[in-house]
Amino acid sequence: MPQTDLTFNRADFPDDFLFGVATSAYQIEGHAQGGAGTTHWDSFAATPGNVVRAEDGARACDHLNRWEGDLDLIRDAGVDVYRFSASWARVMPEGRGAANPEGLDFYDRLVDGMLARGIKPALTLYHWELPSPLADLGGWRNRDMAGWFADYTETLCARIGDRLWSAAPVNEPWCVAWLSHFYGHHAPGMRDIRAAARAMHHVGLAHGRAIQAMRAQGMGNLGAVCNFEYASPVDGTPEAIKAAELYDGIYNRWFLGAMFKGEYPADVLEGLAPHMPQGWQDDMATIKQPVDWLGLNYYTRKVIGPAAAEADVDGSSPAATPWPHHEERPGPLPKTQMGWEIFPQGLTHFLTFARDNYTGDLPLYVTENGMANPDVIGADDTARIDYLNNHVAAAQDAMAQGVPLKGYFIWSLMDNYEWSLGYEKRFGLVHVDFDSLQRTPKASYHALARALARTPA
Ligand code: NOJ
Repeated sequence: MPQTDLTFNRADFPDDFLFGVATSAYQIEGHAQGGAGTTHWDSFAATPGNVVRAEDGARACDHLNRWEGDLDLIRDAGVDVYRFSASWARVMPEGRGAANPEGLDFYDRLVDGMLARGIKPALTLYHWELPSPLADLGGWRNRDMAGWFADYTETLCARIGDRLWSAAPVNEPWCVAWLSHFYGHHAPGMRDIRAAARAMHHVGLAHGRAIQAMRAQGMGNLGAVCNFEYASPVDGTPEAIKAAELYDGIYNRWFLGAMFKGEYPADVLEGLAPHMPQGWQDDMATIKQPVDWLGLNYYTRKVIGPAAAEADVDGSSPAATPWPHHEERPGPLPKTQMGWEIFPQGLTHFLTFARDNYTGDLPLYVTENGMANPDVIGADDTARIDYLNNHVAAAQDAMAQGVPLKGYFIWSLMDNYEWSLGYEKRFGLVHVDFDSLQRTPKASYHALARALARTPA
């Protein structure tokens, strides 16, 4: 039955369980202001064909000037933690060297603003907008990225690290590496397996170096945030099962293997080894830095089949499909505005899977979960409320199986820049009018405030 209210509340969870909302810098701040340097998302968006209507994050939600009201919205929803990101190019416009005082001041005020409202600050250091000068040097294909990232981490954390509740280096390494260098769907828009393999390694190394840098500064509660998609084989044939396993390996097991075991999964390495940077094995100990928690971002599943054999140019014989030999197929389940199937069971799966194979007793957080709905202000928000109910129930299933889940974050506080899909896909609990920039809480926001109220209304 569709629900118009959330079916959970605080009393259903342990006292120390935290509820959060999440955003990221480029998606909300208004990047063109406040002395930030340009990023590879600005040039990617300015290149025809990459982003719907060529929209970019120049203005976004203008959070840079409206952050106080936005933090009030978080407080008024009764949310415990705010997962936000800092923009590397706002802190260091060239990516290296001189810091931008205005940028550091902004994050300093933002963190103080959270603390003043009783909200715990959960920082992500990299949520995808790479400073252009570093992109010009090869970006994530370049091993030096790890050191530059550690330097940026040190600079920012020297200023705000003393007041953070938690910090995580890289949001969704799979997107940073594979989605952006193999599929080409995100900046820098490459479709090159060698570039992808290098990014798949260097982003892990950057994670490890940043964790080391923050430990050296005495910071605690450091974690990793990875994304997960359940892979269902399109049918029961061995080819389909193998294709889905490989999708699962690249997406769900590569980074967990590296970060928690110091090794890459053999089935994925088989395909990527020829393209890996020389001496990669020597970096595994750095990538496997002890962390204090793992964050899982979860939205959907994909139905996967073997790649259809392509006919030869003359149509005579099928050509071989190169590794990884798989492709996405249409799925039968109800979908969100993103076209993503709604599959809450996948969340239970990944929470137990991570615990059983990688993280053991380590605290887990669902660091992102939510859905996009069309833009009809004041309209029925039942689909989002249902989605949240079903996914929170799936998380509770995992807790009933002993998973040490310690918190759940909704993506997102407000409608924002959905990367290649521009401003049309609306994930917010709060509606944003992108002309007037007015914020209007949706029914799901009000439902959340009721669910989280310490004294239920
Ligand atoms: C993943 C990303 O972290 C975030 O930037 C994005 O907007 C949401 N998921 C929805 O696609």
